[in-house]
Amino acid sequence: MIVSASTSQSLASSLAAELDEPLAATEYERFPDGELCASVPEFDADRAIVVCATTTSDAHLEALQLQDAVREAGASEVVTVLPYMGYARQDSAFAAGQPVSARAVARAISTGTDRVLTVNPHEASVSEFFDVPCDTVDAAGQLAAPLPALDDPVFLAPDAGARELATTVRDAYGEGSVDHFEKTRHSATEVEIEPHAADVAGRDAVLVDDIVATGSTMATAISHLRERDAARAFVTCVHPVLAGTARTRLARAGVEAVHGTDTIERAESTVSVAPALADALSE
Ligand code: R5P
Repeated sequence: MIVSASTSQSLASSLAAELDEPLAATEYERFPDGELCASVPEFDADRAIVVCATTTSDAHLEALQLQDAVREAGASEVVTVLPYMGYARQDSAFAAGQPVSARAVARAISTGTDRVLTVNPHEASVSEFFDVPCDTVDAAGQLAAPLPALDDPVFLAPDAGARELATTVRDAYGEGSVDHFEKTRHSATEVEIEPHAADVAGRDAVLVDDIVATGSTMATAISHLRERDAARAFVTCVHPVLAGTARTRLARAGVEAVHGTDTIERAESTVSVAPALADALSE
């Protein structure tokens, strides 16, 4: 049975349809003291696939509770799908005294599952933090699907680390060049982007990244494109975190459209990773 956390209800129902598996009934309660209780009142299966985008601390707890609830209800095998793995960007102690948060959450998730599946983690190496087998799915290619016909497109990554993603989207689109900016991050909300030499004047630009969080990176990149007379600027990302005023920042910067996948369920989640997850789960 597919078991959905409150953060992944659309994706879980798409996955159930793809796999032709039943979708479990779930209840998410909050006690007066603020504690959560996620439950599966009618669960009845040997294998449970718990789907939970761990976008918040509460979502992390929901994942642990659902893993425990299905075992309690008799599941002998638990697979945990983390379409978006929260805290994955803190994959090192970047300053003295900091935790490796990705390792801490991976260890906790590992205690209640036989296998983990995640989509485009920020760094592939986070899969090594799990104490159970962890596979990753690459959904970047699907980001080309919602793009309209483009004029002489250039696919741009905001930094060298995302260039491979930009290449994947370009390959899936079928034409265009690939380039990247050089990014320096000064704080969680401030980034500096070096204008790149690539000729963008009059061309449609597709910006590609794994995550759009505050929108600082993409808004700054769009400003550079505007200064250099690019035509339309599209933003695509696997994980549309779109925290706080990110969507407004992108609109004010002049974005043509924002497309993400349903690893995080937002209005901009125009692409589903359900088929790719179903393939990985069927292997
Ligand atoms: C970081 O390296 C990621 O790949 C993204 O570039 C980053 O998370 C984007 O964050 P923001 O939208 O806050 O600039």
